[in-house]
Amino acid sequence: MRKPFIAGNWKMHMTVREAEELVKAMKPGLEEVSGVEKAVCPPFVDIPAVAKILKGSSVKVGAQNMHWEESGAFTGEISPLMLQGLCDYVILGHSERRKYFGETDEGVNRKVKSALAHGLAPIICVGENLEQNEEGLTSQVVRGQVRADLNGLTPGQVAGLVIAYEPIWAIGTGKAATPDYAEKVIRDDIRGTIAEVFGRDAAERVRVQYGGSTKAANIESFMVMPDIDGALVGGASLKAAEFVEMIRLAAKVKGA
Ligand code: PGA
Repeated sequence: MRKPFIAGNWKMHMTVREAEELVKAMKPGLEEVSGVEKAVCPPFVDIPAVAKILKGSSVKVGAQNMHWEESGAFTGEISPLMLQGLCDYVILGHSERRKYFGETDEGVNRKVKSALAHGLAPIICVGENLEQNEEGLTSQVVRGQVRADLNGLTPGQVAGLVIAYEPIWAIGTGKAATPDYAEKVIRDDIRGTIAEVFGRDAAERVRVQYGGSTKAANIESFMVMPDIDGALVGGASLKAAEFVEMIRLAAKVKGA
């Protein structure tokens, strides 16, 4: 019922020229795979070039952040109007934005509402840090983020969202969470909270990705989990062959 979805988060990597090369290298392989939704999320300045190359293909484009306002005196920011027509998706509340740029759940919530109002589909990131994990606070932290980030949305809006569960200790560390652990948090804390606040139907329809040190060698172990609908891939999405392989494997396990 939920279409699997693998998205690559390029973070602050790739000049325009490098981005063009990378996306040209992965496009044919990505196009061959059906049954899995695919997207790449390059840095802002790369987006027009990448979107041009992917136009008319089955590969979608996402941004890594945006401001909630349409325009104004917000030096250095990018608005939803600027992304319209270039992007289908926008990653919001990534832990690196929360950690290094002071993003709060309140701000993420504003961005989510603004993205939806402008026809951009949010990929909302939640997840606990190492300390919270070690103190047994994972449930509390993730449930709190889900409630706050989705505050005020309708059940119908929530049903159409993508949420990425990214335990911070697993991001870029090579130490992925175990599939059982990720499945439990996604099922009990993410879908569980959504069921409580927005109802069973929204909880069953919302797509939830796992993110944190995913690669071709471990993607299948996550995709076999019933509540994990895909992955938000960082480092491995910068390697064309590896990313294509991940999508092939995801389709093999879950694809239609
Ligand atoms: P990683 O990053 O795959 O490099 O761990 C995931 C992310 O931050 O989205």
